[in-house]
Amino acid sequence: MLLKNALSFLILVGPALGALVPTKRATVCNGNAALCNRSYGNTTFMGAHDSFAFSSDPFALARDQEVDITTQLGLGVRLLQAQAHMNGGVIHFCHTSCALFDGGTVLAYLTTVKTWLDANPNEVLTLLFTNPEGLSIPDVWAPAFVQSGIASLAYTPPTNPMPQSAWPTLGSMIDAGARVVVFLDFGADGSDGAVVPYILPEFTMIWETPFDSTDSSFPCSVNRINGSPADHMYMINHFLDIDIFGILLSDPEAATTTNGVASILADAHGCVPLSQGNRLPNFVLLDFVNLGAGLAAVNQLNGLS
Ligand SMILES: *[C@@H]1O[C@H](CO)[C@@H](O)[C@H](O)[C@H]1NC(C)=O
Ligand SMILES: *[C@@H]1O[C@H](CO)[C@@H](O)[C@H](O)[C@H]1NC(C)=O
Repeated sequence: MLLKNALSFLILVGPALGALVPTKRATVCNGNAALCNRSYGNTTFMGAHDSFAFSSDPFALARDQEVDITTQLGLGVRLLQAQAHMNGGVIHFCHTSCALFDGGTVLAYLTTVKTWLDANPNEVLTLLFTNPEGLSIPDVWAPAFVQSGIASLAYTPPTNPMPQSAWPTLGSMIDAGARVVVFLDFGADGSDGAVVPYILPEFTMIWETPFDSTDSSFPCSVNRINGSPADHMYMINHFLDIDIFGILLSDPEAATTTNGVASILADAHGCVPLSQGNRLPNFVLLDFVNLGAGLAAVNQLNGLS
């Protein structure tokens, strides 16, 4: 009886008591206290290119990663890139075509990410997806975000586009529970008349360097953008391909050097003059994130030792 009363007291009054407890402020953000007060637009994040296209099989030529999503996140990846295609009426992440490399459904992928986010509540994560088939944002993309639970953690900026200088701090995003930023390269501009407010158009807010570089010195240029670099964040596509009879393949042999601190820092600093604001890149996109020293390089770019 007593136990039962105590339980019903907790059930009835517990939530009200919870509301009286002052909101706890995040004191460590993305693994570092110094990042809590840093704005999202002034932070450098490590990214995994074709994050779904992982395989430990060296003969899986369409792979760009060796380790799975949760392992990538554990290594410090805080931007996951992936390319979507329709497969049998369901949206999947696939590399060029689902016959070449099928990474499974977007819903299964996002569910994996949601599990990691729940276990890591002090992390801000960016999802940068490509939509080459122009699949409908409200009808095809949004249901996967809602069903996986990611939609409830997604950040909706007060203005769209959001200028680089206007982004909130990582700490405030974590405190607000809005710590997943979702960008889509194509179709999220509302041109089809339907807008999902947390699925953001990429190129009005981010510019990119050329991708599929075969030059290990990664000469910097503004490759894809809508607008001016002055108010954009930017991403360096720091993954090296080899050209085999006209087919570009990612090069795991070179990845330790490509993902080394020297190569990443040279690429990043080479882009600073193009930022129109003396700024380092916001995102460093890598193949084979388990090789090299990507996190050490990104920590240096963030001024963390
Ligand atoms: C956060 O940064 C602002 C300016 O960027 C500064 O005024 C403030 O003191 C900082 N707060 C903490 C807790 O470091
Ligand atoms: C953040 O701001 C500092 C100081 O202006 C700058 O040196 C650095 O490059 C910026 N980083 C990013 C990613 O914007």
